[in-house]
Amino acid sequence: MPSTGFVHANQELVCDGVPLSEIADREGTPLYVYSASEIRSRFHAIDHAFGGYPHALHYALKANSTFAVAKLLRTLGSAADANSVWEIELARRAGFAVSDIVFTGVGKSSAELECAVPLGLKAINVESAGELARVEAIAERLGRPARVAVRVNPDIDARSHPHISTGLKINKFGVAVETARELFGSIRARPFLTLVAIHVHIGSQVTSLAPLRGAARFVAGLTEELQRNGLPLEYVDVGGGLGIPYDGSDIVSPGEYVSALVEEVRPTGLPIVCEPGRSIVGPAAVLVARVIDRKPRNALSEFVVIDAGMTELLRPALYNAFHRIEPLRSRPGAAREYEIVGPVCESSDVVGRDRTLPAVEVGDLVAIRDTGAYGSAMASNYNRRPLPPEVMVDAGHWRVIRRRQTLDDMLSLET
Ligand code: LLP
Repeated sequence: MPSTGFVHANQELVCDGVPLSEIADREGTPLYVYSASEIRSRFHAIDHAFGGYPHALHYALKANSTFAVAKLLRTLGSAADANSVWEIELARRAGFAVSDIVFTGVGKSSAELECAVPLGLKAINVESAGELARVEAIAERLGRPARVAVRVNPDIDARSHPHISTGLKINKFGVAVETARELFGSIRARPFLTLVAIHVHIGSQVTSLAPLRGAARFVAGLTEELQRNGLPLEYVDVGGGLGIPYDGSDIVSPGEYVSALVEEVRPTGLPIVCEPGRSIVGPAAVLVARVIDRKPRNALSEFVVIDAGMTELLRPALYNAFHRIEPLRSRPGAAREYEIVGPVCESSDVVGRDRTLPAVEVGDLVAIRDTGAYGSAMASNYNRRPLPPEVMVDAGHWRVIRRRQTLDDMLSLET
């Protein structure tokens, strides 16, 4: 059976049997390449780990909402977590039913709520007393109750990068537990609000089990408290956040994560909703780039300038994030130390700091690994750089799922 995903074969990196160099030679660089089989197997790994326990995976579109990726997840049976009305509309066009979409996010504008409330989504996950009142006012005008979940901030440290930790009191997300209790108390007497769940999400790229388990225990405990008080809920929303091993280290596995969720939530007797993004698509893509220059850096190392940088992949510049980088084909000879940098006019545009790689020459192709999540989704046109094309490889065939943007595409918005 041929190996799936990104593997080495005949001294080069291939994706589901297709050499990445073949795609790069045809489509040019920089270029995102996705493995459909990897997305499938990652979705199924989490889905199947629940065994018979009732659950719904609401894929977090913010991680990657390229249309073909969203459609693939839909065909696998995923539901969706949307963070804006544009993600909601994209999800609907990709085939997600409104009853399979939760609307999350800390700043939903009035215009967004006016669009979202009439849709009858599975839930609007509200983040404040004010937002709950705004949803209620729209529902009252429509004469139909809105389905809401309240996001509670559990004050749990996700032990991830501070920019992507959301579960501490100092973070802007959710409401404090005391506020939540007041809201739950008032909701009974508010006919245009139907409370369907409590929601938590403590952060992203969480690599240890304890905080994830702690968040599940917290939300399950609060749910049981409401059940005892005679407020029936429909499910428990534990958020997303499961990390991936960017540097190959040993971290919590999907199986361990799901077992902990089930153990903590089972006493409620309710289904689990979870919102994974990165753990499904992160390892399912590489960003392919070409070496455009080399120059001395210090006695030990060289700068290698590649044609992808913070415009295509913001994570290293924004979070000092680590992504493995490797040549598509290794040259013989001793490995060297390199500072791998992008072409953008910012000193923070470093894609790989102090890396030891096999020797590279101008014109060589490199792969930046594990870039399926928050890669293309966070790309920008800074320096008027066009958004890169995206290719999906499936069962030995590949196709362009988004063409490279042109200057005309950009200028078509301008007068
Ligand atoms: N649910 C909620 C409410 C979220 O805010 C997020 C991510 C998720 C689910 C999905 O989390 P995941 O399973 O992907 O960890 N740009 C950052 C990540 C930001 C995450 C934002 N929220 C990065 O590149 O690391």
